[in-house]
Amino acid sequence: MKHYKIAVLAGDGIGPEITQEAIKVLKVVEERNDVTFELMPALFGACAYFATGDAFPQETIAICDQADAILKGPIGLSHEESKKIPVDKQPERGALLPLRRRYNTYANFRPVSLPKALAHFSPLKPEVIGEGIDLIMVRELVGGLYFGEKEMGVNAQGLRYVRETLEYDEAQIRRIMHQAFKLAMKRRKLLHNIHKSNVLKSSVLWNEVMEEVAKEYPEVKVVNYLVDAAATALCLNPAQFDVMVMENMFGDILSDQGGGILGSLGLMPSACLGDDKAYYEPSHGSAPDIAGKNIANPYSMIGSVAMMLENSFDMADEAKNVWAAMQGVFADGFSTADLSKPGSGVKMISTVEFGDKVVEKLRAMPKV
Ligand code: IPM
Ligand code: MG
Repeated sequence: MKHYKIAVLAGDGIGPEITQEAIKVLKVVEERNDVTFELMPALFGACAYFATGDAFPQETIAICDQADAILKGPIGLSHEESKKIPVDKQPERGALLPLRRRYNTYANFRPVSLPKALAHFSPLKPEVIGEGIDLIMVRELVGGLYFGEKEMGVNAQGLRYVRETLEYDEAQIRRIMHQAFKLAMKRRKLLHNIHKSNVLKSSVLWNEVMEEVAKEYPEVKVVNYLVDAAATALCLNPAQFDVMVMENMFGDILSDQGGGILGSLGLMPSACLGDDKAYYEPSHGSAPDIAGKNIANPYSMIGSVAMMLENSFDMADEAKNVWAAMQGVFADGFSTADLSKPGSGVKMISTVEFGDKVVEKLRAMPKV
């Protein structure tokens, strides 16, 4: 019997509701497999700040340190509410970036996937979607602008100014490239390298290192794309992409666009992998406007569980079953409010009902 410790950071806004559904799925995975999960809940985000004065408190750090994997819900407050917290303690700067830094989770995998049968969820026309959307964005997660030195002040002319630095060294670029090329080898052997080398020197180095690493993967076809052009191409012809690799900020922006072409950010789970520790989170925010209403889509959180099963617990087959269970709920014509707009023909169910249906489907699947 395998035993794993999972730190559960439910987060803010819709975080606790969608985490609850992910936990239901973990319980069913326990029933069906020779595995037990020890769930270790901990405060993280704005809720942690209000309870302890710190968005990533020491107790939470200790729990995460011990965990075999971390399941993290979305964090953050509305723009207005955020102002109640000092800038450096706000959950993004005070908790999420420190979590990424502490565990050096440099490789962020963000699948953007919509089978043909679910193409009606997407705002794109059926002829654009073709056989469906199935790509993965590989985002560098611990470098670049988000982690560079920052300074704010008043300059010699008496004007307020700000300076943020974008820094990468070749080792940081090389390791994310290896992750991307390895993934491409397992898929269509096609890698889109996203950059902005016509303006940014950081992209010039990025591309140089990419070309060096590419020599180790001669079977992979590399296509270079400027990030702005890639944004357009994602709307006009997403099927051309399979694995896309990019630096931190480009990945932040393009992955939200990924949610846009699927029809909902609620369809965006992710895995954040370091060499020694991994954590799993939806790519979207905490949606404070719909929090507590039992209407949020738990797909991204349950999908993050599937990614955890595959990447941290070596349970790829059961992970496939979790994905299939969720697709099955959609295929039966149900979804949460984000994807069941009037006229869509999709029957609206609540967060809890979505989780219940996934659990029911998963229980019905042959054990692996
Ligand atoms: C994401 C989020 C975070 C990021 C925020 C919450 C700091 O937008 O994971 O994409 O910018 O990385
Ligand atoms: Mg983002």
